[in-house]
Amino acid sequence: MESPSAASRCRRRLPLPPVLLLRLGWLFSALCLRPGHGLHTVNTVYGDTIILPCHLEIPNDLMFGKWKYEIANKPSEFIAFRSATKKNVQYDDVPEYKDRINLSENYTLSINNARISDEKKFVCMLVTEENVFEQPTIVKVFKQPSQPEIVSRAEFLETEQIKMLGQCVAKDGYPQGSLIWFKNGVVMQPVDGTVIIYEQTNVDKASGLYTLVSSLEYKATKDDTDVQFTCTVTYFGPAGQETIRSEPVVFDIHYPTERVKIEVISQKNTIKEGDNITLKCSGNGNPPPQEFLFYIPGEPEPIRTSSLYALIDVRRNASGEYRCSLTDESLMDSIIITVHYLDLSLIPNGEVVKQIGEALPVSCTISSSRNATISWLKDNARLRSIPSFSSLQYQDAGNYICETTLQEVEGLKKRQILTLIVQGKPQIKMSKRTSTDGSYKTVACHVEGFPKPAVQWTSTGGVINKAKETKYINGKFTSKVRIAPEENVTLTCIAENQLERTVNSLNVSAISIPDSEDLEEKTDDNRENVSDQAKLIVGIVVGLLLAALVAGVAYWVCMKKSKEVSGEHEKEAAQNIQNLPRSASKHVDKDLGNIEENKKLEENNHKSEA
Ligand SMILES: *[C@@H]1O[C@H](CO)[C@@H](O)[C@H](O)[C@H]1NC(C)=O
Ligand SMILES: *[C@@H]1O[C@H](CO)[C@@H](O)[C@H](O)[C@H]1NC(C)=O
Ligand SMILES: *[C@@H]1O[C@H](CO)[C@@H](O)[C@H](O)[C@H]1NC(C)=O
Ligand SMILES: *[C@@H]1O[C@H](CO)[C@@H](O)[C@H](O)[C@H]1NC(C)=O
Ligand SMILES: *[C@@H]1O[C@H](CO)[C@@H](O)[C@H](O)[C@H]1NC(C)=O
Ligand SMILES: *[C@@H]1O[C@H](CO)[C@@H](O)[C@H](O)[C@H]1NC(C)=O
Ligand SMILES: *[C@@H]1O[C@H](CO)[C@@H](O)[C@H](O)[C@H]1NC(C)=O
Repeated sequence: MESPSAASRCRRRLPLPPVLLLRLGWLFSALCLRPGHGLHTVNTVYGDTIILPCHLEIPNDLMFGKWKYEIANKPSEFIAFRSATKKNVQYDDVPEYKDRINLSENYTLSINNARISDEKKFVCMLVTEENVFEQPTIVKVFKQPSQPEIVSRAEFLETEQIKMLGQCVAKDGYPQGSLIWFKNGVVMQPVDGTVIIYEQTNVDKASGLYTLVSSLEYKATKDDTDVQFTCTVTYFGPAGQETIRSEPVVFDIHYPTERVKIEVISQKNTIKEGDNITLKCSGNGNPPPQEFLFYIPGEPEPIRTSSLYALIDVRRNASGEYRCSLTDESLMDSIIITVHYLDLSLIPNGEVVKQIGEALPVSCTISSSRNATISWLKDNARLRSIPSFSSLQYQDAGNYICETTLQEVEGLKKRQILTLIVQGKPQIKMSKRTSTDGSYKTVACHVEGFPKPAVQWTSTGGVINKAKETKYINGKFTSKVRIAPEENVTLTCIAENQLERTVNSLNVSAISIPDSEDLEEKTDDNRENVSDQAKLIVGIVVGLLLAALVAGVAYWVCMKKSKEVSGEHEKEAAQNIQNLPRSASKHVDKDLGNIEENKKLEENNHKSEA
């Protein structure tokens, strides 16, 4: 430490008035003293205690010490006095420092509760009999501003429009700092018409602290969506430059719709009749438009509604171009909707009852929005060809399904059913056969007809119950009985359904008489229509007439042949009779059966004789 100070020495050589001396002293001290060597500076945080050591060596003959402060263009002001001899302290009546200062025994001055107004040059003076030693100290006060905050924020920003984004405020700092705006961490520089920054500094008169306000006007773009705006305050503290950053702020960016879009909301790719369709219109602006005009085919006026438009249970006539626009009709989009359909018509359909032998033309036609193919099922089995009946048979009966599918359209499938019933009156053929060991005879009644005829057997000996039936397939089945008759019997097979009752008989010779091993068949030519007795009578009359004719023919043949071959005429006649039409009367037929059986028996007899 220097003693006495260089400043004091300089001043002593210059005989100048005290005020000027003081000012020059300030000047000289700056000139003569190298910075940081003699001119001391004390940095204090606002509100703390300022400690000002005297920085002078206490002389042995010290009388007293004093502290004063100096402000440019003003007389210096004494604030404290300490007598070295009397050891007492006096504080001058300076309102600013009343009750704030303390001068210790080593002449260190402390000032409580540092204020901005304490930024002055304080001078420690030590006075002896011969000398006055002085040492100035500069006081600096620092106050950190509050964290900057973005206030008066815009609710949203708009593209193509410059708008007040907000104000960045950093309160109560000292010395004056500066504010900087950042967009996603990048400094925002003023740009004409896009970025305008106004700065404003307010000084609190009482405290002397600075409040910084920076207003940002900004023209946003779509890209500013989700962009973080921040601001910082940069200020000087006792340790140098510091920065505090605000919390980031994100703005909703509003921009107009540039494109509208219409779409069908659906889980499926295709639309078919009966579907419900929801059309959705949307715009790409922010906020998105809430209302649209929908142009529906067939509607003369557009429909103003929210973004959704529902079509319930659409028909094929709903196919067409659907459009939507903004309510000012400025932007528009359209979509083509195709409502797929598939019609199938099976003629005839449902339950159809036909008689055997009848013809039945069948047609299945489709009409569809796309090519579709037809397939046929009969009783759940696929049919190769399209059914068509020129002469219905029992096996033609069944459930016919004509179905079609539109492959491209999910769930579009149609089918119609034809339940064909082929009816027929019972028809009977009879046959008999002797078992190989000759112990019994089997008589069969082959029945055809629909609905299934009920079969009843009777014999000259009474009703037979033990008939066995084969399966009823395609309108046919066989009922069989086993008999071992003691004597010649006539078996009668009666088949009856809703349409008719048919009766047929067969003579079976006694078991002792070997029958032909060959299967003998006998048709139901002697049909007996219970419901139509008149027919029967006519039949008998015709039969009698035919019998007369047969007799005539037989006679003629007999007469003719007698000339050449004698004895053979009876056989010949029988064969001719056999060739008669089968629809002949039962009398004729019964006779025929007799002749036939006799003939066979004759043959057997010849064999056994041989
Ligand atoms: C000054 O300091 C001394 C000791 O440091 C203390 O005793 C005294 O009360 C203080 N006076 C004031 C006015 O603060
Ligand atoms: C002066 O005295 C005060 C307390 O009275 C003390 O804190 C300080 O360190 C002293 N300074 C010097 C330079 O001795
Ligand atoms: C269509 O909507 C109607 C009424 O909202 C509903 O009754 C019907 O089941 C819907 N149809 C389909 C195929 O979803
Ligand atoms: C479409 O056809 C249905 C009947 O299938 C009819 O009720 C409806 O009015 C028609 N719609 C239009 C727009 O022609
Ligand atoms: C549909 O039918 C038309 C004419 O019948 C034919 O030209 C076309 O190729 C068919 N399309 C398909 C996918 O089979
Ligand atoms: C039984 O029929 C056979 C021919 O099949 C005949 O020869 C015989 O005389 C008949 N018997 C009686 C008792 O009628
Ligand atoms: C069956 O035999 C009887 C006599 O026993 C005869 O009257 C009848 O005509 C014969 N019927 C047939 C179908 O041969």
